[in-house]
Amino acid sequence: MLIRTKAEIPSSEITPRETYMNRRAFMARAATAGVVASVAAVAGGGISRLMRPRDVEAAEKLNVVGSPLSLTGEAPTSFEDITHYNNFYEFGVDKGDPARYAGTLKTRPWAVQVEGLVKQKKTFDIDALMKLKQMEERVYRFRCVEGWSMVIPWAGYSLSEFIKACDPLPGANYVQFISLADSKTEKLPFDAGISWPYSEGLRMDEAMHPLTLLTFGLYGEVLPNQDGAPVRLIVPWKYGFKSAKSIVKVKFVKSQPETTWSVMSPGEYGFYSNVNPNRDHPRWSQKTERVIGAPIYAQRKPTLMFNGYGDQVASLYAGMDLKKNY
Ligand code: MTE
Repeated sequence: MLIRTKAEIPSSEITPRETYMNRRAFMARAATAGVVASVAAVAGGGISRLMRPRDVEAAEKLNVVGSPLSLTGEAPTSFEDITHYNNFYEFGVDKGDPARYAGTLKTRPWAVQVEGLVKQKKTFDIDALMKLKQMEERVYRFRCVEGWSMVIPWAGYSLSEFIKACDPLPGANYVQFISLADSKTEKLPFDAGISWPYSEGLRMDEAMHPLTLLTFGLYGEVLPNQDGAPVRLIVPWKYGFKSAKSIVKVKFVKSQPETTWSVMSPGEYGFYSNVNPNRDHPRWSQKTERVIGAPIYAQRKPTLMFNGYGDQVASLYAGMDLKKNY
């Protein structure tokens, strides 16, 4: 993965003071909204509770209810950072490239094909897929293998709901997710070193875990293109690269599928990719993370095993050596 150390981060990526001050004010507002959110969730939900700043052109709003699986008490990262500090190599290797160039991505018409070990091949039109289940707002920690993290209010429903609708056969042990690769609407740059299409995979029990989110939005609105519109995956206890964007195909398979980064550099990026502070990346430590948008004094914090979701997911890996199965 294309990694830059702190010293290599160009000044253009250092937040201007004015933006920084606005962000602090926004995060304070968002933290308050989070409290209201929990109350709304207990009361049975409603439309999204976390609102993005008004000065950004509005996108299509989603009808989302609260979720007991949301974090409480952690201020969400600003909408600006979530949408301007991205990895979406189809549009370039710089963190600002997706926001600059993903406007060319055409998200309608869009369909997700289901194939492999299923009773019957199926194609889900995106608008039908969005209505398959009630969407929830899930505020999750998001940790990138490069060493930065955010807190993001995603919108979607558990992937397990979609998998049930796919009718997989008993021999389907893994699920593979394949992203769009379309040279007419995406740059697909050579210097990303990726053999397109981008693809990722999960073991079936990981895919069926209630935390694994089929994601259509953030901050209560449809995903901005740079964040993986119109549909992506979010697996909050794994490094961000497991969360494939702009998915066009889901394949149920018997054996562990090849995935983009593990094929490109298997010694660095394993199939499991659980956030694991005890297993350093060969070129850097994973013990701490840089919290994007946090005040200087709180920018570095210790990384938690499974990104803090250990109570929910550790049992999936009982008996496995997670230093070997990284
Ligand atoms: N999906 C596709 N199709 N292409 C990508 O380049 N990058 C991955 C993941 N999903 C990527 C992708 C990586 S490395 C990360 S860290 C996350 O998306 C970034 O998601 P974000 O930009 O919404 O923060």
